[in-house]
Amino acid sequence: MKVKPVAPDRLPELLRAMPKAELHMHIEGSLEPELIFQLAGRNGMTLDYPDVESLRRAYVFNNLQDFLDIYHTGTTVLRTEQDFYDMTHAYLARAHADNVLHAEIFFDTQTHTGHGLDASVVVNGLHRACVDAQAAFGINASLIMCFLRHLSEREAFEALEQVLPLREKIVGIGLASSEVGHPPEKFARVFARCRELGFRLVAHAGEEGPPAYIWSALDVLKVERIDHGVQAIHDPALMRRLADARIALTVCPLSNIKLCVFDDLSQHNLGRMLDAGIAATINSDDPAYFGGYINENFTQTFAALGLSAQQAWQLSANSFNASFADDSVKRRYLERLNGCFETFR
Ligand code: HPA
Ligand code: ZN
Repeated sequence: MKVKPVAPDRLPELLRAMPKAELHMHIEGSLEPELIFQLAGRNGMTLDYPDVESLRRAYVFNNLQDFLDIYHTGTTVLRTEQDFYDMTHAYLARAHADNVLHAEIFFDTQTHTGHGLDASVVVNGLHRACVDAQAAFGINASLIMCFLRHLSEREAFEALEQVLPLREKIVGIGLASSEVGHPPEKFARVFARCRELGFRLVAHAGEEGPPAYIWSALDVLKVERIDHGVQAIHDPALMRRLADARIALTVCPLSNIKLCVFDDLSQHNLGRMLDAGIAATINSDDPAYFGGYINENFTQTFAALGLSAQQAWQLSANSFNASFADDSVKRRYLERLNGCFETFR
């Protein structure tokens, strides 16, 4: 759709009001320090941090691994199905407030089975919250299970085996955790198996890792979307491939700044990705840790890069088109998006 120009001072309002899909957020990364302390209290656990403020102050990272270490501490408070439900409910309420109509939520079971929980506790808690959010907020939420790439192929196969009885509660499979040194090829066989089982496939690639990891996520794992993918900018042939095949990138600008992938938002390559015809989207990744939910990612990125109302529409349309919703549902989302732009004054 051709969009009328919007004055820069009105853009934040449009960005917030605009219907959108969120395709890249890790549910454990939505655990706010307040909820971490609440869950620790009800599970009789003590944390290494005396209070909410001191925990929040620890959220300073030099790279992905720094973050993953603290993020792991937060996950230890999740012990019961109700804990997983409450975490997911809190995120979906917050996403609804940001006018997210559709959320595809990353989770992993390996962190939690490593803490002695059964994978079904994780999946059932998350899934029940997704079902309830449809009635409570009208938001469509589904689940993507990520394998942890720092663990072995054998452990990924075990994680898959454990969730097969819950197959209907999971739409897709992804790949997360420490990227460099753990290329997509390591998971070629387990992704092939997931494909046979009918799961939709995505993978983190090119966040800190090289363009070669994006090529192999596409050609070896055969994923449909790339999570992050910002390092593609260093490989012109890859940029053409992504644009020509309309392979979506789920970009997470505030995450990239917090993890020092770019020095500052004004250096971010999202605008260049859009100019190259790549189907980029904006997402929050781990909103409790990286300084904001999806609308904060939109408003800060637009301010820093001077993006336009036309690009706002494109980013939202990309998010719906790249989602795993049925085509008829996608059409309804796009109608709501167009309606928002037509009535915005
Ligand atoms: N990258 C890789 N793994 C993750 C991330 C991320 O940004 N967030 C949570 N797990
Ligand atoms: Zn991520």
